[in-house]
Amino acid sequence: MAFDLVFFGGTGDLVWRKLMPALFQAFRHGSLPEGGRIIGVGRDDLSDAQYRQHIQSRFERVDGDKRPQAEEFAQFASLLCYVRMDLSQPSAYAALSARLAERETDNVVMYLSTAPNLFTTVCEQLAAHGLNTPQTRIVLEKPLGHDLASNRAINHAVGLAFKEQQIFRIDHYLGKPAVQNLFAMRFGNALFEPLWRREHIANIQITIAEELGVEKRGGFYDGTGALRDMVQNHALQLLCAIAMEPPINAHADAIRDEKLKVLRALKRWTPETLGQHVVRGQYSAGNVEGQAVSGYCDEPGVGQQSNTETFVALRTEIANWRWAGVPFYIRTGKRMAGREAHIEINFRPTPHEIFKSPMGQANKLVIHLQPKDGLELHLFAQGQSKRGQGSGSATLSPVHLDLDFDKRFGSQRVGAYERLLLDVLDGRLNLFVRSDEQEEAWRWVEPILQHWKNDTIGPRPYAAGSWGPSASSAMIARDGFCWSEEA
Ligand code: BG6
Repeated sequence: MAFDLVFFGGTGDLVWRKLMPALFQAFRHGSLPEGGRIIGVGRDDLSDAQYRQHIQSRFERVDGDKRPQAEEFAQFASLLCYVRMDLSQPSAYAALSARLAERETDNVVMYLSTAPNLFTTVCEQLAAHGLNTPQTRIVLEKPLGHDLASNRAINHAVGLAFKEQQIFRIDHYLGKPAVQNLFAMRFGNALFEPLWRREHIANIQITIAEELGVEKRGGFYDGTGALRDMVQNHALQLLCAIAMEPPINAHADAIRDEKLKVLRALKRWTPETLGQHVVRGQYSAGNVEGQAVSGYCDEPGVGQQSNTETFVALRTEIANWRWAGVPFYIRTGKRMAGREAHIEINFRPTPHEIFKSPMGQANKLVIHLQPKDGLELHLFAQGQSKRGQGSGSATLSPVHLDLDFDKRFGSQRVGAYERLLLDVLDGRLNLFVRSDEQEEAWRWVEPILQHWKNDTIGPRPYAAGSWGPSASSAMIARDGFCWSEEA
């Protein structure tokens, strides 16, 4: 299958950090379709050879077996070429058009890894130059807007040039192996389904914690914040994957219809829940892995008086028969105590106790997204009884069933961007977000943004290297629960 994959923002950070390594892995795994061409588009004045060198220098920093051998890289590099373009100039698109016209392909992928304010212009110009053929697919990176209105405007503009089936909105969390395994676990096994409901589940917690701060992205991040950067998209998509009903089949729209229903059923905010069930924080100076690090307001590109949140914890519910009354907690933050993303399904305790079990403990299923990728089922078992202890008086001990997918599947594992890029080339939309899902997610987060605008208190400080402000623990404690590290 001959394809042309065009990276708008071809010399940018995402191509450098994620997309090229993912394509190289796909190439190495032999899963990149043959006859492909990867076209970097950027403003720099580079020849094809210089672009190859630029990408090669990226791989020179890689250690271990991810570093390509010279021969291997030369083969991969032969797929790369470059077109110099200023995307804001309509006349510039002729150069791309000419490059694409050089050969016949089965499909063309336009990957917009640029500033989102260019999305509309690029789509208009692609259409004006006849580059929106039915064989063309367009990939949109987040952030897709900064609120509902701007998101709709982008979706509308893209929709004028491309049909929904041609539009691939990336949420790279959906490409993570653990998330695909969550679908497999829920809908490929009968075991959990009867338990997957309010009668058996006490609460669900989604944690996406990062050790990193805002790095070099202070300028971007300061106008964005954790709610827009992580909750509106990644965390809500995880919540959908946990809470959705079984789809009628594995087709993209069947899955996306079910996710949309979850988003629509999220409890609407009231002034009271906005006050009590949402905590925003901002990191101050602290210590991460033994290193002193500065506070958010001292990061390059960030204003000294910034009110931008680097941490959010919130509690919500899903108003439907399966989940009514079950709290879902989401928290995410930068400069936290560890890099750790997981989902905890906390089951209800046994209805009647005949054994002594550790206080307040019940079964839980932990879905680890990173750094570990696996499942952990927490059970209770009876170890060796001591003399004189009948089973009735025995104290149970916690034990884990631990499934490590990396160990189990090892080198066959496909990374998030690799998976998503291959799916785009295959035209599989299952792991991409539909416009109505995205709009619904914005509709749900907007009242929080509005509330913060009028809130004079601002984000609560937390020391870099901690688990966030104490108000986050207080919020969950009010329901009689705690975060995993506090158990
Ligand atoms: C991105 C956010 O979408 O996800 C970043 O913009 C964040 O701020 C990143 O660091 C986290 O992704 P991952 O895969 O490293 O957990």
